[in-house]
Amino acid sequence: MMKHLSEKTRKFVEIATDEQRIKHIKEFRWIGYSDAIKILKKMDDLLDYPKSSRMPNLLLVGDSNNGKTVLLNQFHKRHQAYVEEDENGFSKVKNPVLYIQAPPEPDEKRFYNIIFEKLYAPYKTSEKIEQRQLRLIHLLKEMETKVLVIDEIHHVLAGTLAKQRLFLNVLKYLSNELQIPLICAGTRDAFNAIQTDAQLSNRFEPKVLPRWTNDKELKRLLISFENILPLKKESNLIENSITNKILAMSDGLIGEISKIIELSAILAIESKVEMITTNILNSIDYTSPDKRKKFIL
Ligand SMILES: Nc1ncnc2c1ncn2[C@@H]1O[C@H](COP(=O)(O)OP(=O)(O)OP(=O)(O)O)[C@@H](O)[C@H]1O
Ligand SMILES: [Mg+2]
Repeated sequence: MMKHLSEKTRKFVEIATDEQRIKHIKEFRWIGYSDAIKILKKMDDLLDYPKSSRMPNLLLVGDSNNGKTVLLNQFHKRHQAYVEEDENGFSKVKNPVLYIQAPPEPDEKRFYNIIFEKLYAPYKTSEKIEQRQLRLIHLLKEMETKVLVIDEIHHVLAGTLAKQRLFLNVLKYLSNELQIPLICAGTRDAFNAIQTDAQLSNRFEPKVLPRWTNDKELKRLLISFENILPLKKESNLIENSITNKILAMSDGLIGEISKIIELSAILAIESKVEMITTNILNSIDYTSPDKRKKFIL
């Protein structure tokens, strides 16, 4: 019975009400697809990289809604801050992985403030940039931060070449002074901006999260989804016509794939069909990304 489900999901389906199942579907569940696992491993390697004057950095590149932030969060979650007592009995916060989102525009002061806020460290608006930098570096050293994660890096690498240059220098400075790897995520624009700086492009290894295509990896992803979807019947999402349909609707973005599957699973419960079919996929209230774009125009 219900062989398409993981044991945990099967047990849940046996006892849960429809409402409970629907609520469960809406909750985020991380799926470790191959690229994600590989990149996480790479990030873990960086965490223990010996200090040197040439630290390796990583740039996660991908289209919007294709899993960058989820991946960074997953890495962050695995290395959470903790409290340690020193020899005098004082507790100190250690923060091995610091995650921030770059400010929406290339504003250096705001960039530092975001980090201070993340660390609950006060700052004065009157404080000079150089002073801020120094204090920040000191703080990160104290917390034994081993990796600085900067999401949405394209925001600060936007604008005129001069503005881009300014932030490329900020990144270089932080990386050199702290001697810790930077893990950044952003769109292709970020990648292009970094390419304009020989030193940085040497030190940033790009890792691309490509759009999904109909191959083994996608089938594996769909199997993983099916395993954890609390539906009583097997949908067989890897049947080619269903796979292709989901792929076409989603534009190959994992965020859309998961949204389509979520809406379909809910409809499958509400309609008592209990499996995702082509008919269900056609009936969900969902606008695919390319249609959304046309709508705006
Ligand atoms: N490993 C995963 N397991 C399950 N769902 C995932 C996974 N990765 C991504 N998703 C789904 O895709 C959605 C979009 O992912 P995410 O927010 O990481 O995109 P992004 O690349 O950061 O986009 P943006 O550039 O717009 O910030 C998530 O909200 C989640 O629903
Ligand atoms: Mg994101």
